[in-house]
Amino acid sequence: MENRINDLFGIKYPIIQGGMVWASGWRLASAVSNAGGLGVIGAGSMYPDVLKEHILKCKEATNQPFGVNVPMLYPNLEEIVQIIIDLGVKIVFTSAGNPKVWTPILKAEGITVAHVVSSLKFALKAQEAGVDAIVAEGFEAGGHNGRDESTTMTLIPLVKKYIDIPIIAAGGIATGEAMLAAMVLGASGVQVGSRFVASHEASSHDDFKEMVVNAKEGDTELTLKELAPVRLLKNKFYKDIQDVYSSGATVEKLKEILGRARAKKGMFEGDLDEGELEIGQVSALITNIKSAKEIVDTMVLEFKEAKKRVQFY
Ligand SMILES: Cc1cc2nc3c(=O)[nH]c(=O)nc-3n(C[C@H](O)[C@H](O)[C@H](O)COP(=O)(O)O)c2cc1C
Repeated sequence: MENRINDLFGIKYPIIQGGMVWASGWRLASAVSNAGGLGVIGAGSMYPDVLKEHILKCKEATNQPFGVNVPMLYPNLEEIVQIIIDLGVKIVFTSAGNPKVWTPILKAEGITVAHVVSSLKFALKAQEAGVDAIVAEGFEAGGHNGRDESTTMTLIPLVKKYIDIPIIAAGGIATGEAMLAAMVLGASGVQVGSRFVASHEASSHDDFKEMVVNAKEGDTELTLKELAPVRLLKNKFYKDIQDVYSSGATVEKLKEILGRARAKKGMFEGDLDEGELEIGQVSALITNIKSAKEIVDTMVLEFKEAKKRVQFY
């Protein structure tokens, strides 16, 4: 497949595995890269030493390009960036913050930078900051998102209208058909998160993976808009948050609930009641756990078949 995202990252298929806290370590990232997509290590849940280990293991496991996702709210941001530079990582995805400060620093090191946004406003800022590509993520996506609630179907054509650099669509994409749709709307590639959570190589807990596979329509919601909006499965932890809301939530009270390593507890340790379980709406379409290679191969096949089929509609 000839396209701008393949050229930018030096990959075979424009399928990016989104960096994900507690799910995307070296095993998943290297498996996706070996399958022809772009694997991305999620640094957001890693202490600097742990990230170092994951980058080194990823390099051993693949000779294909891979990236690191860095949420810019990360407390040890400077240390993380230094590790990325020192270990010669070539691709960085930044998210959850302003790309203005770090983009020039990363680019000066010859690193290709993509930034994740949830609205046109932030896409324009990212382009101005000099990033090489934009991940435009609709609010159906798993994990943290914007407050504007723009869907992928709306966001991609809107961003495309005003942005010249390559666009990667994210949010609700787990099949080749959805990939084709996103590319028809103007994306040059797709970023896939939830589908890869339900993979053998994801580091997330098996019980969480099972819950993803069993999730139905309406089982997720974007909540915690006052703090950092995040799409979660509606488990007990989610219901506790709703109770706090109905009794007049203060930001302090919400922080108190969250401040107990809930994401690790849920997604990594498999506490499905007390933990935070981040996943997208598309979980309703995911019915099995597959290998990363099967996921990439199936998406490519579905994409090609859908492209042929669509002419006959
Ligand atoms: C469990 C989970 C953790 C995530 N963690 C991060 C993260 O650390 N940084 C980030 O930029 N995006 C994160 N995301 C978003 C993904 O990278 C990706 O953009 C999103 O999942 C795409 O939407 P989808 O879930 O509908 O495929 C996370 C998503 C999930 C499901």
